[in-house]
Amino acid sequence: MLSASATVDPAFVVGPVRRRTFGSFVEHLGRCVYTGIYDPGHATADEDGFRQDVVDLVKELGVTTVRYPGGNFVSGYRWEDGIGPKSERPRRLDLAWHSTEPNEVGLDEFMRWCTKAGVEPMMAINLGTRGVAEALDILDYCNIAGGTELSDKRRKNGAEEPYKVRMWCLGNEMDGPWQTGHKTAPEYARLATETARAMRQVDPGLELVACGSSSSDMDTFGTWEHTVLSEAYEQVDYVSAHEYYYEEDGDLASFLGSGHKMSNFIESVVATADAARAAGKHTKRINISFDEWNVWYQKATPSMPPTGDDWPVAPVLLEDTYNVADAVVVGDLLITLLRHTDRVHSASLAQLVNVIAPIMTEPGGRSWKQTTFHPFALTARHARGEVLRVAVQSPTMQTAKHGEIAALTAVATHDAETGEVVLFSANRSTDEALELAVDVRGFGDLRVVEAVTYANDDPYWHATADDDTSVLPVPNATAAVSGGAFTMTAPAVSWSMVRFARA
Ligand code: AHR
Repeated sequence: MLSASATVDPAFVVGPVRRRTFGSFVEHLGRCVYTGIYDPGHATADEDGFRQDVVDLVKELGVTTVRYPGGNFVSGYRWEDGIGPKSERPRRLDLAWHSTEPNEVGLDEFMRWCTKAGVEPMMAINLGTRGVAEALDILDYCNIAGGTELSDKRRKNGAEEPYKVRMWCLGNEMDGPWQTGHKTAPEYARLATETARAMRQVDPGLELVACGSSSSDMDTFGTWEHTVLSEAYEQVDYVSAHEYYYEEDGDLASFLGSGHKMSNFIESVVATADAARAAGKHTKRINISFDEWNVWYQKATPSMPPTGDDWPVAPVLLEDTYNVADAVVVGDLLITLLRHTDRVHSASLAQLVNVIAPIMTEPGGRSWKQTTFHPFALTARHARGEVLRVAVQSPTMQTAKHGEIAALTAVATHDAETGEVVLFSANRSTDEALELAVDVRGFGDLRVVEAVTYANDDPYWHATADDDTSVLPVPNATAAVSGGAFTMTAPAVSWSMVRFARA
């Protein structure tokens, strides 16, 4: 048995819990849109063809913002193809995923879906095959009240009121050689700066995201951010970070250390952004939009796009099946995002439905929750108020990929209004339970309202359409607090959440 100790105190404030930390992502990729959120023949489909069972799951997941329409898809996308009468919309090749895009769902449908799901849209624009003019066009269509050709077209298409989209991604993964219209850092810096400047001429209050690196493993990581921010600094608010934590390939310890890798990535992006701030003598800070993150079984067959003459509509792509260990990693990654809430101002779990997703559907049939649904839903629901740093003294574990890392990771939130304190933690050990002792005296007398742990004797258990309830977060009977001392035992490969209230 491992043992770790920690202190949580109301003074250890990192920053606010930002609702946008619990964002997600809907891309025209595989079955995320078609037979995912949209399935007109489904028994629960509404008048727009959206599945109500999926909307209900999205609400239960607690997603706040949804990035759209890609992803790699956006870099070849013409947004005008997806507006107006459906019968007149063109079918086009989607080069990113070697598919055919039928354009049955487009911008107006997505905005209606956002209203139904109660989420904020976060739009990505095409800076792969397009540029400043098209960015201005989509901004006009979305955000201008009326009186211009494009805003009047939106009204004619059924949306009298402007969508008032606040957050815009200036392209997607433009550092990646796989991206349609991939750019060098100086090329992208120029285009992003000019696009942002023009968009701000329409509305200076927009929140604009410059593309950062597609992963911390990119050869250009660091220099890309430096070049882009050296030019675009004053025109943008955020730099993006994308990273997927790849399947466990026989090295569970390294996989469970994914949060350690994400933490290093975030801190390096912050350092690069702050170096650009110093060099350019800027006063504002550039924060991070971590707008693609998840576990991804990238080497698995479902991730391979079609080839040759085969350009299917909505093929099965990236339909990863997640196990309990994956869910522990997702919980740990959320802990990591919260721990950096001072600089990570937005994040998107990629993606939402069917494609590397917490929600799965059968075309015309059932929908169900993957294991990763649970830590996300609980964190999104209960993290409130301010994020508190947890001062941890943890035993360490050796990993092949990250060296020596802490076995325990934790973060807390504190809602000063209600007095609720929530402790989120993960035991990354592959084989040992961990006894945790936490000093919570700074809050006065507390009682445990709820303590749940997600783990399983077989960490490779995964949910199916037939069974997504056998392994759920369950009450942790070892959790107890007395005289400001909290204790709990967390099994190996586990994620836990403990909610406290004033006694
Ligand atoms: O989320 C899947 C893909 O991963 C996205 O389209 C792309 O941006 C990233 O490489």
